[in-house]
Amino acid sequence: MRKNPYIIFLSAPGAGKGTQAAIVAQELNMAHIASGDLFRQAIRDETELGMRVKSYVESGQLVPDETTIKMVLGRLSAPDAEGGAILDGFPRNLQQAEALDKALAEQAKAVDKVVYIKVSEEELLKRLSGRWICRQCQAPYHTINSPPKVRGKCDKCGGELYQRPDDTAQAVKKRLQVYFTQTAPLIDYYAQSGKLLEVDGEGSVDEVRRRIVSALHREVVARWA
Ligand code: AP5
Repeated sequence: MRKNPYIIFLSAPGAGKGTQAAIVAQELNMAHIASGDLFRQAIRDETELGMRVKSYVESGQLVPDETTIKMVLGRLSAPDAEGGAILDGFPRNLQQAEALDKALAEQAKAVDKVVYIKVSEEELLKRLSGRWICRQCQAPYHTINSPPKVRGKCDKCGGELYQRPDDTAQAVKKRLQVYFTQTAPLIDYYAQSGKLLEVDGEGSVDEVRRRIVSALHREVVARWA
């Protein structure tokens, strides 16, 4: 029996989907599945998957669909996500979206809503160039917008903060190009099925959070209460 909806967070790189997906998942007590975090964890642990995907992730290219779909659908079948989850960074192209629809349909389930966080390109570049991430718990910080209390240390777990190798100017350019050609078509795909919730991603983290939570309460959460 489903306890929660399936909600996708979709945006260009750096728009804040990881930041918001983590906050909203905690607020709604839902599993948060971030494909980028799963890949980075595998790279850090030097697993066979990590070795296979490292060059794609660090250069800003999409990991091949077969690998990505297998990893995310596997994670989705874990007990904490069986009844619903927040998906952050997946799907990233039409093939992945169709694979997700098919896998959910086989269990009489479906994607409920897609939160699309819209941010100008100028703001994306500012957010990515100042980003720091916790090596341990992946919490994101920003040099200007959300600095940690102690320089270089995560407020939540005390872990070391680092800058992602795919936040270099060259990799960011590639990620934006990949986003506009492969991921942006998903905006229409989900709009056509009436699932898209477009949210203005400009403003503080808390302002954006309030917009997302109120849209989700209006459109989805009330039905699952
Ligand atoms: P992934 O980790 O998903 O990266 P991304 O999509 O490029 O997104 P980002 O994590 O860069 O940005 P975000 O939108 O989460 O922003 P954040 O919250 O951090 O993917 C990485 C790689 O993995 C891909 O390139 C690919 O190789 C591979 N991969 C992943 N999924 C895949 C898939 N499905 N298929 C194939 N390959 C896949 O915020 C950014 C910064 O802004 C932070 O510093 C934050 O503190 C700050 N910030 C956030 N919100 C605000 C705000 N409102 N105001 C001011 N600052 C803010």
